[in-house]
Amino acid sequence: MENEGKKTIVITGGSDGIGAAAARALVKAGQNVILVGRNPEKTKRTADELGCPFHLADYAKLSDVVRLAGELNAYERIDVLANNAGGAQNERKLTENGFERTFQINLLAQFLLTRLLLDKLAASNATVIQTASIAANLFGSDFDPADPESENDYTPFRAYGRAKLCDILFTRELQRRYGETGINAVAFEPGVVRTNFGSESTAFVNFCYHTPLKYLFTISPEKSARRLTRLALGTPAVDFVPGEVYSYKKPLKLKFRDPDGSAAASLWSACESRLAAFL
Ligand SMILES: NC(=O)c1ccc[n+]([C@@H]2O[C@H](COP(=O)([O-])OP(=O)(O)OC[C@H]3O[C@@H](n4cnc5c(N)ncnc54)[C@H](OP(=O)(O)O)[C@@H]3O)[C@@H](O)[C@H]2O)c1
Repeated sequence: MENEGKKTIVITGGSDGIGAAAARALVKAGQNVILVGRNPEKTKRTADELGCPFHLADYAKLSDVVRLAGELNAYERIDVLANNAGGAQNERKLTENGFERTFQINLLAQFLLTRLLLDKLAASNATVIQTASIAANLFGSDFDPADPESENDYTPFRAYGRAKLCDILFTRELQRRYGETGINAVAFEPGVVRTNFGSESTAFVNFCYHTPLKYLFTISPEKSARRLTRLALGTPAVDFVPGEVYSYKKPLKLKFRDPDGSAAASLWSACESRLAAFL
């Protein structure tokens, strides 16, 4: 009876920023939150503050993601998986797994985690939320499904915008493939938010996010987190359309055109072939 009406909500990137703000709001609303973070001290501090269990994974290491999936699969149910961890990088670097870092952290690791949790998510009729970005429109609309890791024309902005566009395409394809199993996929762009975002990124991003100028450009993590909590607590097909990407309550119009879903399908295959050793 204690858990009646409560959802079990996993939030990645829960140690800080939008994820931590959403976790605070959801705990306050009486939900069971499970935090996932990278930095052990920060994650434990936030989890202790909220009285939640926590798990650790560095998304630059896919073996961490596999271990994390094993830990999360031990929970009885997962009603919401908020794939929120992410960020931008300063230069093109490969992870220990050999993939471009921005692509791996913002998409590939989320893809792997979701894939490894699919049975549990379907059995729970879960909502799977991707934290995307308006950068998908600003810098990602020239995405080439044949070059998802920007080998040919990398800049930090393009890599980030394209990775965030990939989160949206992943949402569409997840819905197309697994919607009938009970999963409801949805993405949102959180606004331009006063968080630790950009600390591993370019001077321009640092200037906007980490000087007093940030107050001109940004909204608070608490305000942004309402976009995530609305989806986490919402009823699919009533409060949001599964497969859609939102800018707060309105669907976001994407500049990248994929009318027949072929780019989303091709991205899915590209992820599966890269992750074959882990699936
Ligand atoms: N802030 C914005 O304006 C904005 C705009 C559009 C989209 N977003 C997206 O919103 C999400 C949350 O970002 P935020 O603004 O809240 O920034 P943040 O304060 O830097 O939080 C990012 C979270 O992701 C985690 N993370 C970063 N790299 C990771 C890795 N390699 N492995 C595992 N976890 C990792 C961070 O862990 P640590 O605590 O260890 O760093 C932190 O918990 C991200 O997906 C970001 O791309 C943000």
